[in-house]
Amino acid sequence: MAKVWSKRFDNSLNPFIEKFNASIGFDKKLILEDLECSIAHARMLGKTQVLSSYETSQIVNGLETIKNEFLEGKFSPGPPSEDIHYCIEDKLISLIGEIGKKLHTGRSRNDQVGTDIRLWLRKEIDNLDNLIADLQKSFFNLAKSNIYTLIPGYTHMQRAQPLSLAHHLLAYLEMFQRDRNRFQEVRSRVNTCPLGAAALAGTKIKIDRKFTATELGFNKIYNNSIDAVSDRDFCIEFVSAAALAMSHLSKISEEIILWVTDEFSFAKLTDKCATGSSLMPQKKNPDVPELIRGKTGRVYGHLQALLTMVKGIPLAYNKDFQEDKEPLFDTVETISSCIKAMTILINEGMEFNTSNLSHSVENDFSNATDLADYLVGKKVPFRTAYQVVGEIVKYCLERKILFKDLKIDELKKFHGEFDEDVFPNLEPLNVVKSRNSDGGTGFIQVQKEINNWEKKLFF
Ligand code: ARG
Repeated sequence: MAKVWSKRFDNSLNPFIEKFNASIGFDKKLILEDLECSIAHARMLGKTQVLSSYETSQIVNGLETIKNEFLEGKFSPGPPSEDIHYCIEDKLISLIGEIGKKLHTGRSRNDQVGTDIRLWLRKEIDNLDNLIADLQKSFFNLAKSNIYTLIPGYTHMQRAQPLSLAHHLLAYLEMFQRDRNRFQEVRSRVNTCPLGAAALAGTKIKIDRKFTATELGFNKIYNNSIDAVSDRDFCIEFVSAAALAMSHLSKISEEIILWVTDEFSFAKLTDKCATGSSLMPQKKNPDVPELIRGKTGRVYGHLQALLTMVKGIPLAYNKDFQEDKEPLFDTVETISSCIKAMTILINEGMEFNTSNLSHSVENDFSNATDLADYLVGKKVPFRTAYQVVGEIVKYCLERKILFKDLKIDELKKFHGEFDEDVFPNLEPLNVVKSRNSDGGTGFIQVQKEINNWEKKLFF
């Protein structure tokens, strides 16, 4: 295929270099956005009378035809075109002839590609927002039915204090909400139109940048044409937000992997989301959370790739930018599939073992703080109470007993303020119930959280 620049060159491209240079293999994904961008550009050229109304309608109809052919599966972009932009331009010229050669008036692939990616990413951010909202709903439903289910809370992976399982699950809703907010902030910067910056300097052709921006639903235009074609911040910001969101998915994945072990037995996998072993007949493997945890690394890698790509790039467009697409595309694909898989896992892939969960919080020292707080209630300074309870823990460990096995006389030996009414304070449900500070795990607080989320997610 003759290159558009063939008149300027004596020889044709080395075939290997031709492939090396091409991006059509992956940027064909932008076909609908490229068509949308070109239609807006052509309409604008009609409005400013750079094109006659006949030419404009020929071009717009030609582009619509390409769109329909694509949607009907009659046209698929690919080599020998170098990229999606040339591919569409060539196709248009072959469809409508000479007039098609007027489409590229007053623009460059540099502002065109920037516009295409932004259109694509804006749509993907909206899809992601819906996917995360669905995931939040799944967590919410599980939380709502487990307000009074208790789960050990850990710090340093050591038993710390018991929690309402709902409270634990609602922590993820907060993380996912921050992810959604972050994506919205990124979206506001994605939503700036570079079209009309042309190669880097703007153009002497009479264009109307605000018109194309409005046609394409952008809420503003880049102020500076050089910045417009050189800015890839939004790709990095997006992948960075995605990397953080993946870290949240990886965190819950890791917890689920632990919960379903024989050692924890807090939950079990249903057959919907588990796989067997090829060798060990007894196995039921948590492949889904493991894959999500594994894929997190891939998104982190894309972030690193993009940051490295832009490092030390002089103004303005440089071909390095062609390398923005694969990490961006793969990030969207990876995070979207991970969110969907996690939603299925939460909805139907696992079941909490509630009797094991409540049993586990009855047989540990995670009520030690409550024993100390009891003394604090009797005006004993906290540090003194803390030390008294430390001694009691040691005493119990030596005898392999729990606080609840102690007689009141034994307790009194450690501190005279202990009385019979200490024991109810040590029962796990009361332990959790009593943590009624704002945002705490106390049931009143958890119910408040549930009510707030219900409003936020469903109304
Ligand atoms: N395929 C190119 C990219 O993805 C399109 C822009 C090419 N611009 C240029 N001046 N060579 O970045």
